[in-house]
Amino acid sequence: MDKIKRTSVIDLLKSKDLGKTVCVKGWVRTKRGNKNVAFIAVNDGSTVNNIQVVADVAKFDENVLKKITTGASLCVYGVLVESQGSGQAVEIHAETIEIYGIADETYPLQKKGHSIEFLREIAHLRPRTNTFGAIFRIRHNMAFAIHKFFHERGFFYFHTPIITASDCEGAGQMFQVTTLDLKNIQKTSDGSVDFSEDFYGKPANLTVSGQLEGELAATALGQIYTFGPTFRAENSNTPRHLSEFWMIEPEMAFYEIDDNMQLAEDFIKYCIRWALDNCSDDIKSLASRFDSELIERLEFVLANDFVRLKYTEGIKILEKTVAEGHKFEFPIYWGADLAAEHERFLVEQHFKRPVILTDFPKEIKSFYMKQNDDGKTVRAMDVLFPKIGEIIGGSQREENFEKLKKRAEEMEVPDKDIWWYMDTRRYGTVPHSGFGLGFERLILFVTGMTNIRDVIPFPRTPKSAEF
Ligand code: 4AD
Ligand code: MG
Repeated sequence: MDKIKRTSVIDLLKSKDLGKTVCVKGWVRTKRGNKNVAFIAVNDGSTVNNIQVVADVAKFDENVLKKITTGASLCVYGVLVESQGSGQAVEIHAETIEIYGIADETYPLQKKGHSIEFLREIAHLRPRTNTFGAIFRIRHNMAFAIHKFFHERGFFYFHTPIITASDCEGAGQMFQVTTLDLKNIQKTSDGSVDFSEDFYGKPANLTVSGQLEGELAATALGQIYTFGPTFRAENSNTPRHLSEFWMIEPEMAFYEIDDNMQLAEDFIKYCIRWALDNCSDDIKSLASRFDSELIERLEFVLANDFVRLKYTEGIKILEKTVAEGHKFEFPIYWGADLAAEHERFLVEQHFKRPVILTDFPKEIKSFYMKQNDDGKTVRAMDVLFPKIGEIIGGSQREENFEKLKKRAEEMEVPDKDIWWYMDTRRYGTVPHSGFGLGFERLILFVTGMTNIRDVIPFPRTPKSAEF
């Protein structure tokens, strides 16, 4: 028997090897039956679907069968046969069953139908549920699709640092990285912390974005993308924010804002198409449990062009609806940053499809964005999605050295932090553009989940870093 290799559940369910002895290994999802026969549903994570193992009670030690409960891990040898029951094509008639590990009555996942909030408290075990198995298989597929999309288009995957000594981006509060003894901080003569003793000899942080280093690469390799973790210490406890999240940041030499918008639209559609084509069992399983409109929504995004809208036009639409009596929590006027409620109004109620908003007031955007001739706006772009709000943020970059320098000074970005970045504009500067996609926000959209804590294995949020 030992010579028979294990087959994954996903392959067994498709197998035509009826009458052959097979080996399956996995975890018990449910066991039911009567005094003659036991039906054991086994899952090994390869698919949301289980394989049914049928055990003739007379053939097995009663004590062994008793120990086969939800959560236990098994190695089963048996004959693959056409299933008599409905719901599955094939099942295994067990010849031998070895229990690798029992799961006693304290196993928290005894029954179906635990609340998503309860499962968050046991994030170390939740990947064993159908829901989270599906989410994390989709997450893997999205990561794969992203690499495939860029590779096929001649982009290079470029690794930018996680630890950085500057907060040029202004994207949010940073986490400091230090080896100083916090119980015994050395001060300089003027009373400030003596960072010369710190690991890097100066203050260092976890990165909020790989963009600035990404621009260095784009002006050498032509087109690159980053895909890594980023960290923001802002205290936003919302269903859309994590303090540790993954971001994909393509950066392209010779791209102007319109090229950037088109790439963003093609990119998101490619990922959604990939999910529909390659994760249909998992998507269907999530749709049936949480969101009956999920598949329709994904197909809809694929079938429609994204609206392109200037910020100024967007504000006019929002002001008009307020004048007509629509209530928003936050005030809206030219110059204001859009809140999620404004973004979702434009997408879900006004246009009823994704919107790419461009040309924002320069005051609410970063120093590096390309300045328009009006002196008031910059060539920023935010891609806004139904149910999500902002899924992508990006811009054409200011390639003119003098203009960029002036804007950096106005926004008090110290030259000592960006002298290396300024070199891209000193030497062989080119028009270029890029954007950042929040990976978890893409997963939210594709899975139909509503809380970002449920689409990353171990979420990091204010006051929460368990596991
Ligand atoms: O709009 P953001 O801050 O843009 C940048 O960081 C640029 N450097 C990107 C670029 O041009 N290369 O962030 C980009 C995206 C957002 O649109 C959102 O999807 C996601 O990252 N994001 C978050 N996702 C989860 N939790 C948070 N706290 C997030 N902050 C931003
Ligand atoms: Mg943004």
